[in-house]
Amino acid sequence: MKKKRSSPLVSVRDIDARIDTSAAHLRSRLKHRPKIGIILGSGLGEFGDGLRASQVVPIDTVPNYPRATVEGHVGTIVAGKLSGVSLLVFQGRVHLYESGDLDSVLYPIRIAHRLGIKILLLTNAAGGLHMNFRPADLMIITDQINLTFENPIKHLRRPSRGGDLYDPEIRDIMRAVGRESNIELRQGIYCGIKGPSYETVAEVEMIRRIGGDAIGMSTVNEVSLAHALGIRLGGISCITNLATGIAADKLTHREVTEVAALVKEPLQSLLTGVVQKIGTR
Ligand code: HPA
Repeated sequence: MKKKRSSPLVSVRDIDARIDTSAAHLRSRLKHRPKIGIILGSGLGEFGDGLRASQVVPIDTVPNYPRATVEGHVGTIVAGKLSGVSLLVFQGRVHLYESGDLDSVLYPIRIAHRLGIKILLLTNAAGGLHMNFRPADLMIITDQINLTFENPIKHLRRPSRGGDLYDPEIRDIMRAVGRESNIELRQGIYCGIKGPSYETVAEVEMIRRIGGDAIGMSTVNEVSLAHALGIRLGGISCITNLATGIAADKLTHREVTEVAALVKEPLQSLLTGVVQKIGTR
């Protein structure tokens, strides 16, 4: 007897239908078509609060939108303008370790794409692996290593497009803003793991040896999908702690959110400067 083969395309169609409903809801409420999307990580969610003429959309009012459960993740979408550029800011994200479900993690990316967003800036909280990094450093992400053992574009059934995941021009813009606004910036490779366990000392050593400069539990799958969908990406890690084995103390989620609060100002200035520069191009 022939075995019935389940088709992954059916579930992709389901997701498309869910995204259509969510995006239609947002489109009907937003005053402006957003040009740049911003996804804010753990404890970094305040950027959207300062936008002009902002509209706040709690995610639990958006049909089908997955919920974040982790402390430090606000769970709001804010639309507004900064220096004349219209933005859509996702305050908080769902992690793989919360939902176990890649589609929830990727939901904001699909929404942003459906709303016509062509540029996305992502921030995250990360542990520092590079020996020169210190808590409260900001790191421009130059590239990534995906150790979540997931692949967010398998439904596309073709190899992704080549080229840098993190747009070189956006990286240049970040460096320019850093110089002009006196914000010291590091740069390096972000390694994404699934979590929720923090990595062991041996894992930290392995990841350093394969080239990781910072480690966290988000971003890598979002960036892969967004790049495949033709979105230009910029990424910033807030080094909230030194990774296990490098730091003297044991790591806690509270430490991560406390240090994230310390970088609020430089991160805000960096994002503002980047949006302004992109807006004038
Ligand atoms: N490891 C993994 N994820 C993290 C860390 C860390 O040290 N800090 C913030 N997110």
